[in-house]
Amino acid sequence: MINQFQFNNVSLQLNRYPATANDNLQAWDAADEHLLQHIDEQAAHQPILIVNDSFGALLCSIKQQFADCQISWLSDAKTSVLGCQQNLANNQLSDAHIEWLTPAQTPAMTPALVLLKLPKNLNYFIEQLRQLSQWLAPATQLLIGAKAKNINQALLNTIESHFGSASASLAWKKTRVISAVFDGKRRAPLADQRWQTDTGIKLIGLANVFAATKLDIGARLMLDNYPQGQFNQVVDLGCGNGVLGMQAALSYPDAQIHFVDDSFEAVQSAQMGWQANRLDEARGQFHWDDCLSHLPAEIEVDLVLCNPPFHQGEAITDHIAWQMFMDAKKRLAVGGMLQVVGNRHLGYHVKLKRLFGNCQTAASNNKFVILRSVKA
Ligand SMILES: C[S@@+](CC[C@H](N)C(=O)[O-])C[C@H]1O[C@@H](n2cnc3c(N)ncnc32)[C@H](O)[C@@H]1O
Repeated sequence: MINQFQFNNVSLQLNRYPATANDNLQAWDAADEHLLQHIDEQAAHQPILIVNDSFGALLCSIKQQFADCQISWLSDAKTSVLGCQQNLANNQLSDAHIEWLTPAQTPAMTPALVLLKLPKNLNYFIEQLRQLSQWLAPATQLLIGAKAKNINQALLNTIESHFGSASASLAWKKTRVISAVFDGKRRAPLADQRWQTDTGIKLIGLANVFAATKLDIGARLMLDNYPQGQFNQVVDLGCGNGVLGMQAALSYPDAQIHFVDDSFEAVQSAQMGWQANRLDEARGQFHWDDCLSHLPAEIEVDLVLCNPPFHQGEAITDHIAWQMFMDAKKRLAVGGMLQVVGNRHLGYHVKLKRLFGNCQTAASNNKFVILRSVKA
């Protein structure tokens, strides 16, 4: 993987998180460089808010040039927080004057400038614009970096209706920077999506959650094929809206259910769904984490349910699925089971067989398979 980031007088070693052997993936893109062209000493003199900075390329670059700059840094992804903190440390950059924010928190100081990487999910982008409208002073500048192919008049109109007037720069290395000016109107937060499965499980989807408004088709097959048995500690790994864990709470009435996701909004949605279904508060635990990196060591897991992601941000990759399988194996008690749903063509069967020494197909349809591996 290329990890030497050189830009103007900035020189950094930047790695993705978790590290991957895939040479095609790097920890920054040209839109980061394009955004950085807009930061000078004067801009760095006032509080800056950085939003959706995948692995800290923006934060580390600004810190290297302007060590005392006051920065609020907001991300929905735990892997971004961990990646950014790792990149700061690897480049001997101090984390003083940095405020780490989740999407549920408000910056302590009013930012004078916002740098934002355009997220893939348009609804989440709208949520972020509306959130900014509650925090900023009128006329504050928002700079949005994105691939030129993702910027069009419809996007500029969206920014105008949820934030203020916007115009796009000329293209540079196939990216553009949109400059928007806050019009001073406060917008109400977006309403959560509330719906239920045909079996009556109530679900709540915040804007950045996978399958925020409907059941994923892989999850549907999973729900119809739960293993029989007495399970006590169940993990919904990559929980999204939490539908798999909530069904587990109903199928295994004595079990403790752990919901884990990289997305803060996913964990929040699962927790809100748990409350909406009036499930026992003492049986549900919610973890914003990268796979099972920080699951308390004393938990002896006997079932992991997993509908793994096949991308990280814009990058299509199976390394997160692989890490989920390895973490599951590490945390399962002997005799414990990992049950995975996956698209047939992804070949999870081979990976699971290699890792666990066994893998059985429990169900399938023309698109998906349900696979089970037991820890020997
Ligand atoms: C295919 S979705 C499944 C969501 C839900 N379980 C369902 O079946 O509808 C995969 C989920 O994995 C989460 N995820 C991605 N990377 C992760 C990581 N490193 N650690 C934990 N969860 C992760 C995503 O945020 C997403 O919610």
